[in-house]
Amino acid sequence: MKTISNLSTIGDFIRWASTEFAKHKVFLGHGSDNYWDEAVFLVLGLLKQPWNSDKAIFHCHVTDEEKELLVTHIDLRIRKQIPVAYLLGEAWFCGLPFKVNTHTLIPRSPIGELIERGYEPWLAMEPDRILDLCTGSGCIGIATALAFPFSEVDISDISADALAVARDNVATYELEDRVTLFQSDVFDGIPAERQYDLIVSNPPYVDANDFDSMPAEYQHEPKLGLVSGPDGLDICRKILKEAASRLTENGLLIVEIGNSAETFEQLWPGSGVSWIEFEQGGHGVFALTKQDIMAGPWQ
Ligand SMILES: C[S@@+](CC[C@H](N)C(=O)[O-])C[C@H]1O[C@@H](n2cnc3c(N)ncnc32)[C@H](O)[C@@H]1O
Repeated sequence: MKTISNLSTIGDFIRWASTEFAKHKVFLGHGSDNYWDEAVFLVLGLLKQPWNSDKAIFHCHVTDEEKELLVTHIDLRIRKQIPVAYLLGEAWFCGLPFKVNTHTLIPRSPIGELIERGYEPWLAMEPDRILDLCTGSGCIGIATALAFPFSEVDISDISADALAVARDNVATYELEDRVTLFQSDVFDGIPAERQYDLIVSNPPYVDANDFDSMPAEYQHEPKLGLVSGPDGLDICRKILKEAASRLTENGLLIVEIGNSAETFEQLWPGSGVSWIEFEQGGHGVFALTKQDIMAGPWQ
């Protein structure tokens, strides 16, 4: 892709990037749902301008150095199919920016909507202690900690590289005194005496068939963050097996399993899970109380 000499303003580059994205049919699955927004995020992000800047910024001219930067990254987005969040090192979740890299999944869980409404109506209490299992960048645990300013939050992941990013995000939001990180294979590395009012998790849940057919953009994400055994439910099974012993008496478990909800229902029909509905899109997130888990067919 050669530098286009007659592009001179930010608006020119956004329009051009948008057209190129459409022409090359880049896959949109990590934040925006149209090529224009994808171009706005990339161009304004690279120029270190807020994504929601006043439209007047579109008339501003870019320097030759900035043109080089923009052309290089628009090219990477198209030819290498690298998601914008990885090109910028940042993704938004619950209206908050989070550092990300290729060791962390790009945040996009519908659980964000649940956090924004304080987990209502599912959570019947102000939780003292919360666990975000399989935390990746830490987005769910950190946004939850900000929603419940008096709660202690543990966040855990098996990946040391993901936890390094989560640690940076915890520091960005100055939550070191309330958010504790654990490197752990599901519950194995979390001290047994820690009991939680809320356990929330967006674990890997893609099944082997789905993974093979995912667009190239997803291949930049850590496979460890996506795949979970042949039917996508390996980690979910482990969570269900142990969650009851980690929850307080009135504790609540919330787990996202996306498309694997279908397999879940086939495996355990009539299991009593409540599937949460979302206004902003998303599916396959269930809620279970401690009692539901203990009575369930997965024990
Ligand atoms: C789907 S990603 C979700 C990340 C984050 N919660 C989010 O919503 O963006 C799943 C995460 O689970 C982690 N993971 C995979 N296997 C795990 C295991 N056995 N125990 C704990 N974490 C695991 C991965 O490293 C990855 O960060």
